[in-house]
Amino acid sequence: MDKIVIEGGKKLYGELNISGAKNSALPIIAATLLTDEESIIENVPPLRDVASMLKLLKTLGARVSHEKEIVRIKPSRNLKYIAPYKMVSTMRASFCVLGPLIARLGKAEVSLPGGCIIGPRPIDLHLKGLQELGVKVKIEGGYVKATASRLRGNDIFLGGAFGSSVLATGNVMMAATLAKGTTYIENAACEPEVVDLTRFLIKMGARIEGVGTHLLKITGVKKLHGVRHRVIPDRIEAGTFMLATAMIGGNVLLRDALPEHNGVLIDKLKTIGVTIRKHKNSVTVVKKTRKLLPVNITTMPYPGFPTDLQAQMMALMTVTPGISVITEKVYPERFMHISELNRMGANIFLEGSSAIINGTKKLSGAPVMASDLRASAALVIAGLAAEDRSEVHRVYHLDRGYYKIEEKLRDIGANIWREKE
Ligand code: EPU
Repeated sequence: MDKIVIEGGKKLYGELNISGAKNSALPIIAATLLTDEESIIENVPPLRDVASMLKLLKTLGARVSHEKEIVRIKPSRNLKYIAPYKMVSTMRASFCVLGPLIARLGKAEVSLPGGCIIGPRPIDLHLKGLQELGVKVKIEGGYVKATASRLRGNDIFLGGAFGSSVLATGNVMMAATLAKGTTYIENAACEPEVVDLTRFLIKMGARIEGVGTHLLKITGVKKLHGVRHRVIPDRIEAGTFMLATAMIGGNVLLRDALPEHNGVLIDKLKTIGVTIRKHKNSVTVVKKTRKLLPVNITTMPYPGFPTDLQAQMMALMTVTPGISVITEKVYPERFMHISELNRMGANIFLEGSSAIINGTKKLSGAPVMASDLRASAALVIAGLAAEDRSEVHRVYHLDRGYYKIEEKLRDIGANIWREKE
C-alpha cells in the first residue's frame, strides 16, 4: 500500500489540466449496456473506480479496452444478467448496471452495494423508480433480483429524505429509455454528471426532454445505438485544486475546468476573499497574503454546495481565523475527516450534522489516515498548508477518484510524493 508524503508550506503557481469526471464516466459506462453496438468514451481517466466498472462490464459479457483515456465498449448480444457481490460491493456506482440490464434482458441480479464509510446509502429510490416502470423486485441472498416482461412508462417521483438522487435518477432514466410509452421523472437530480449521462443517452437515440431540470420526460424507443462521447471535466477535482490554492496561497490556472459547474464554490471563495477569474473553459485562482474571512456552508443537491467538496472546504476553514459552520444535508454522517484534521491542530467539533470550525493560524504536519475519497483529498491539501511533514496513509481511497494528484500538485510547486508503506 502507498502513502503520500508532504512537506508543507510551498505556495502553488502554474497551470494544470483537470481530468474527465469520474462520476460522469461511471454511469455512462453502465449506459453502454443499453445496446450491443460499440461505444467510444473519451476523456476517461484511468482511476481505480473506472477499472472496477470496466471489470464488471467484462464479467457481464462486454469487450472493453481503456487506452490513453479512451474507453471502448462492445457489449455482447448475449449479456449475462448477474452482477456479482465481489464487484458491486467495492463501488456503489456499479449498482447502475441494474437499469440497463433489466431494460435489455428483462432480468437482472445485482448485488446490493452495501454500507459505506460516509454513512448509510440506501437504494430505495432506485428500486421504487424501477418498480413503477413495471419491474418486479425481490431481495434475496444479498442480491436485488429483478424481472420484467416489458417496461412501461409511468409518472415517477424520485425524492427521498435528502432530496434527489444522482444515481437513482440515472438508473431509472436508463431503464425508461427502452420502456413502452412515456415516463416522467419528477424531482430528478440535475447535477452536471446527470446532464452528461442524459446527453449520452440522447446521442444513443433516446428521446429525453427537460435535460438539466427536475422534470425529465422520457419517451421510450425500441433500440439504442453505439456512440462516441467526451466526458465533461471533473468539477470536484477542479474544486479541490481551487480550495488547495485558496488554502495555501499562489496563482493557479485550471485548464479544462467549467466555471459554470462550480458556481456556488466560486461565489463562496469570492466572499471569503479569494480572487477567481472565470474564462470559457478554465478558471484562475489567486490567493495573496490577505487574510480570508470565515463562512457558513450547507451542502445540498446541485446547484447547492456539493457534499463532495465539503471535506476540502473544511480544510480551508481550519486556517481561516474566526468561526465557520459547515452543515451536511446530503450525507449527515460524512465527517470522518474531522478527527484527522484535529490531529493536525485544527479546532473542529461536531454538533449534529454541523461542524463548527474555529479557524487557527497554522496547522502542523502529522501522520493521518484517509477514510474515504474526499476526506483523503482534504488531508492532502491540509498537509500542503501545514508546517513540516505530513503523511497520508491508505491512499488507495485517493486513487479511486483523483488521477495523478501528487504529480499535478508537484507541477504547480508542491513538495509532495508517494512512498510504499
Ligand atoms: N438516497 C436515498 N435513497 C436512495 C438513494 C439515495 O435515500 O435510493 C439518499 C442518500 O443516502 C443521500 C442522498 O439521497 O442522502 C443523495 O445521494 P445520491 O443518491 O444522490 O448519491 P449517489 O448517487 O449514490 C453520487 C456520487 C457521490 C456524491 C452523491 C451526491 C457517483 C458515482 N457518486 O452518489 O460521489 O456524493 O452523488 O452528490 O456519482 C464521491 O465521488 O466521492 C461520491 C461519494
